[in-house]
Amino acid sequence: MGPLQIKDILQTAPENQSVVVKGWVRTKRESKNAIFIALNDGSTINNIQAVAEPGQFSAELLLTVTTGSCLKVTGQLIASQGAGQTVEVKITDIEVYGTADPEEYPLQPKKHSLEFLREIAHLRPRTNTFSAILRIRHALAFAVHQYFNEKGFFYLHTPVITASDAEGAGEMFRVTTLDLNNLPRTEEGAINFKEDFFGREANLTVSGQLEGELGAMALSKIYTFGPTFRAENSNTTRHLAEFWMIEPEMAFFELEDNMDLAEDFVKKVITYALINCKDDLNFLQNRLTEEEKNKPQNERSLPLLEKLAFVVDNPFERLTYTQAIEILLKSKPQKEGKFQFPVTGWGIDLSSEHERYLVEKHFKKPVILTNYPREIKSFYMKLDEDGKTVRAMDVLFPGIGEIIGGSQREESYEKLLGRVKEIGIDPENLWWYLETRKFGTAPHSGFGLGFERLVQFVTGMGNIRDVIPFPRYPKSAEF
Ligand code: 4AD
Ligand code: MG
Repeated sequence: MGPLQIKDILQTAPENQSVVVKGWVRTKRESKNAIFIALNDGSTINNIQAVAEPGQFSAELLLTVTTGSCLKVTGQLIASQGAGQTVEVKITDIEVYGTADPEEYPLQPKKHSLEFLREIAHLRPRTNTFSAILRIRHALAFAVHQYFNEKGFFYLHTPVITASDAEGAGEMFRVTTLDLNNLPRTEEGAINFKEDFFGREANLTVSGQLEGELGAMALSKIYTFGPTFRAENSNTTRHLAEFWMIEPEMAFFELEDNMDLAEDFVKKVITYALINCKDDLNFLQNRLTEEEKNKPQNERSLPLLEKLAFVVDNPFERLTYTQAIEILLKSKPQKEGKFQFPVTGWGIDLSSEHERYLVEKHFKKPVILTNYPREIKSFYMKLDEDGKTVRAMDVLFPGIGEIIGGSQREESYEKLLGRVKEIGIDPENLWWYLETRKFGTAPHSGFGLGFERLVQFVTGMGNIRDVIPFPRYPKSAEF
């Protein structure tokens, strides 16, 4: 089925075999004795070198073989004299599928800034950096499904269009078919959503959790893995308006089980990438080392592969929010007034500088924080006995901050109803969710892993906009 890919040719094709290689030209180099064409088809970071003799092809044809053009090359696989490759293709025929005028084609063989590449998201997968990221992203997604399948979880497809605000944070994109220039009104003058497509207000989901809980109350262990949307105006290197989230939800799991699962899960998924994405990870590691070479030794971060191995090999630190506040209050940046948001005391919401201090400076490893004050966490979290904290858990990673947010869920109908009313949600809107607590309620827990934050960590990329094929963020007007 289809032609052999470059990855397979480089790994398995025997010497002297006739081959057909199809791919895009990365570089063309002409010397007195030979013409070298480096071809890549995205199956691997490695190019295959194709070699022709001077005069073998017309100057006219060779002029159309430029960086970015697409070729079909026929030839023979021979041992290569060149460094870093065992085989190359001795060309017998070239067919140009598509040219790429060097005057116009923006990806020339030189270093392009990530900012520039973001403006040409339609072409950037053809660079080494982005193709490596996309292959790693694929491998991680595959590992997620494999992990849960092996652990007896079922993949539940939760809806993209919902009515409920799962996080109660009011950061939803509205879905409507109403004519914005001629909105139907109620007698009181409000927009009449009864006339809209669904006969009510509808939004893009911020999380599949609430529907995931319904699944767990029937199938015991489920996970979702789908796009989620947040209209938060966060212009940071860690936020997207459209991102993918993995949300397992388990009946009969308490907070402790939830933490064990979260830790095991991220470690196994990262291990999968370490085993299966060696070439791409090495490439990205070299890219980072190159970037940091002008920094003084003590300011350089660990090489990427060492950083990943460290996370996989060491237990995460587990502590409560209350313990974290005590550490932060005594910390150097707090005493020296170096935090942008000083820690004023118990009850504050932690900002990313606090999280990163705990992970990067204090413990120097991933941290799981638990039992946050109820006021700063979502309504569905189970109340602790003290009535002040909830059974929440956030997993914090070096360089990233929060990578996972989760909790044990409130299973008591009365307590949950109380919380829903307290934060001002109309219980009518969540009647179906509340019913899970009325009929056969059970202790259960779950969490959400931001997939792009994971890809960011594994690839070492500084900006989340560079680990998703087509990033959506405030004022990303170019798509
Ligand atoms: O902490 P969050 O908001 O939790 C939830 O949505 C829960 N319903 C999850 C659950 O318990 N099932 O989001 C979970 C994770 C965060 O830890 C972060 O990794 C990621 O989703 N995340 C984002 N990633 C990219 N851009 C954004 N704007 C994100 N907001 C959250
Ligand atoms: Mg969170």
